[in-house]
Amino acid sequence: MARPAVSIRNVGKTWEVEGRRPVRAIDGLTIDIEPGEFVVLLGPSGCGKSSLLYMIAGLEDVSDGVIECDGLPITAPSAERGLIFQEASLFPWLTILDNVAFGLAIQAEQPERRREIATEILRRVGLGDMLDKKPDELSGGMRQRAACARALAMKPKVLMMDEPFAALDVQTRAKMQDFLLQIWRDSRASIILVTHSIDEAISLADRVVVFTARPGQVKEIVPIDMPRPRNPRDPRYHAYRDHFTELLAAEVDRAFAEQEVR
Ligand SMILES: Nc1ncnc2c1ncn2[C@@H]1O[C@H](COP(=O)(O)OP(=O)(O)OP(=O)(O)O)[C@@H](O)[C@H]1O
Ligand SMILES: [Mg+2]
Repeated sequence: MARPAVSIRNVGKTWEVEGRRPVRAIDGLTIDIEPGEFVVLLGPSGCGKSSLLYMIAGLEDVSDGVIECDGLPITAPSAERGLIFQEASLFPWLTILDNVAFGLAIQAEQPERRREIATEILRRVGLGDMLDKKPDELSGGMRQRAACARALAMKPKVLMMDEPFAALDVQTRAKMQDFLLQIWRDSRASIILVTHSIDEAISLADRVVVFTARPGQVKEIVPIDMPRPRNPRDPRYHAYRDHFTELLAAEVDRAFAEQEVR
């Protein structure tokens, strides 16, 4: 079998803030993410999903264990590992085209070529008419697509998304999910997406990693064995939904009980 795109081995994270009790966010986490695989992380609030993405992105250190990308331990951010936040983090003073071209400057492409690549990729995400607009002239869904375009322009091997569609209305969200599956197929990148939506997890994932309450550990890894596009009326879809609802309910209860003790 090919080497995993990301290999998370026995990883723990303790946040230490001066004058506060240290917080054990993640504990003993082991997951392999295959090249081209779509993995969804599902878990109660505060179980360390975002912390894990920051560590894979190389923005934060692991406290224990190791995360390897293509067989090498992660020590710093890299263009090969893109991260998209819940609220699209575009530069408000740049046009959409320049936002996408910006990352390519770091990759030392010539200015002409940068604009060419950026234009091509913005067309691919359906924003060909928006090149000269500023982010605040776009809708939430369009901004998220522009953020995807900026990440994709770097040709990442791993694309991480932290609740990317949480702020969008239901219809736009469904469209964005279709769009994401399409660019995932084209790009062949591995995707690691965090969501609180069970339906989003079932619609998108090859495998869903369900976390326990903090400190986050793997509670269960569930492969979604259904062809795409996945029909919410399919009995298998219902069975997955029931299963995830049950798994999460137990953990959310635990997370709340713990909060009350403190
Ligand atoms: N930069 C930080 N400094 C200190 N503590 C942090 C930091 N980031 C996260 N934490 C703590 O680590 C724990 C896990 O946080 P994290 O944001 O990773 O959870 P999450 O699973 O993404 O939650 P949510 O679903 O609410 O986004 C929390 O207790 C949080 O307070
Ligand atoms: Mg989070």
